[in-house]
Amino acid sequence: MQKIIENLTAQKQRHIDELFEFLRIPSISDLEEYKDDCKKAALWLMNNIKTAGFDNARLYETAGHPIVYAEWLNAGNDKPTVLVYGHYDVQPVDPLGLWYSEPFEPVIKDGKMWGRGTSDDKGQLFMHVKALEEIMKVDGKLPVNVKIIIEGEEEAGSSHLDEFIENNAELLSCDYVLISDTDWVDVGLPSICYSLRGLTFAEVKITGPNSDLHSGSYGGSLDNPANVLCSMIAKMRDEYGRVTIPGFYDDVLDLDADERAGFARIPFSEEEYCKLLGIKATNGEFGYTSIERSWARPTLDINGMTSGFQGKGSKTIIPAWASAKISMRLVPYQDSDDIAKKVEEYLKKLAPPTVTVEVEILHGGNPVMVKRDGKGIQAASQALKNVFNMEPIFMREGGSIPVVGVFQSVLKADSILLGMGVPGNNIHAPNENYPLENFYEGIKVSAHFFYELAK
Ligand code: BES
Ligand code: MN
Ligand code: MN
Repeated sequence: MQKIIENLTAQKQRHIDELFEFLRIPSISDLEEYKDDCKKAALWLMNNIKTAGFDNARLYETAGHPIVYAEWLNAGNDKPTVLVYGHYDVQPVDPLGLWYSEPFEPVIKDGKMWGRGTSDDKGQLFMHVKALEEIMKVDGKLPVNVKIIIEGEEEAGSSHLDEFIENNAELLSCDYVLISDTDWVDVGLPSICYSLRGLTFAEVKITGPNSDLHSGSYGGSLDNPANVLCSMIAKMRDEYGRVTIPGFYDDVLDLDADERAGFARIPFSEEEYCKLLGIKATNGEFGYTSIERSWARPTLDINGMTSGFQGKGSKTIIPAWASAKISMRLVPYQDSDDIAKKVEEYLKKLAPPTVTVEVEILHGGNPVMVKRDGKGIQAASQALKNVFNMEPIFMREGGSIPVVGVFQSVLKADSILLGMGVPGNNIHAPNENYPLENFYEGIKVSAHFFYELAK
């Protein structure tokens, strides 16, 4: 291991240079005009992985963006097989004006790298590629069998990956899935995540009159679709911050006393949190702390609303239609399809007969909870200890990685969520960043992990 660490240190600059090449490719999966860039990023990564020493590196085309796959399976049958998962696609970059530097021209400043994809997820997935490359260079082999699958549609709901996994369960069969696509509790507090929230994403459209109408001539004589939509959505949460969809909480796993006590020991300051976010106070479901609310309780949030006149100045109209994008974060053991059905029924019931309501479910993914005492998590925990000299914190995460539920149900493999992002990394927002230290040390953590797992 000493030799590998020395080698990693000597290769620091090359690792960053290569990552920056990768980051410069604007692989935004959910915008049609970046389709070629997604392909380009997939090809770039495949070649990098091939050069790293992997066998059978190739792209699998899908109806959407290609999947990158590679393997190294010469460790022997008595050694476990790890499937490394990540995503090469990134989120859109608007509002562009708020970036301090170009989103796709990464820079280093204040001990961090800045640019779209630095944390989510190019920077993080690349740590594993480089760790495995250096191990192979120094040792001539890997301590365990490794398969790599990097997709290009995570930020768009992984719509074609589920099917790919179902059709290629043999190819992807493994003992553990290793994923670095989550955050630590805080800077300097190495953490391991054991649960992710799931998601149901819906779009609702209310249609009224056949055209926008003069709000003086017609206002008051008919239902305004924007008003209707607002009052419908207002009814979806009660005064205690609970979601009112019938049956929404049926399958929610309650927090037990042990877990709540564990969360309460995590260093968390309401004041710092408010300061970081620029808010006056936190708020949410009654009876829960901020950590509990965002990690272990389900939610319903509006992600966007569109209706009527949105330009400068005023225009007195009754808009012909109104729409909203609404997402629900789910916790174990809610089921994304079940919640989709329930929300659709509820929205139809809430709409008055004077308007037309259409509900479309855009995508979803199930919440997950993994064993905290499995061999994989223990190896991850030891790897973090080896590098940072402290006990990692066991945390849950409010965000979602939809495919993790599919790895569980189809491959019967638990995921090890060894993410190294930090609060303030601005993923999905302007000025995304990733601490250089987490990138460099993360490569070492990854290397340690594979050796710990082989023990
Ligand atoms: N890496 C994130 C998941 C995440 C979010 C981890 C926040 C840690 C903190 C992932 O890329 C992501 O953004 N997932 C989406 C999934 C959705 C688009 C289906 C999410 O959570 O919104
Ligand atoms: Mn991600
Ligand atoms: Mn993301």
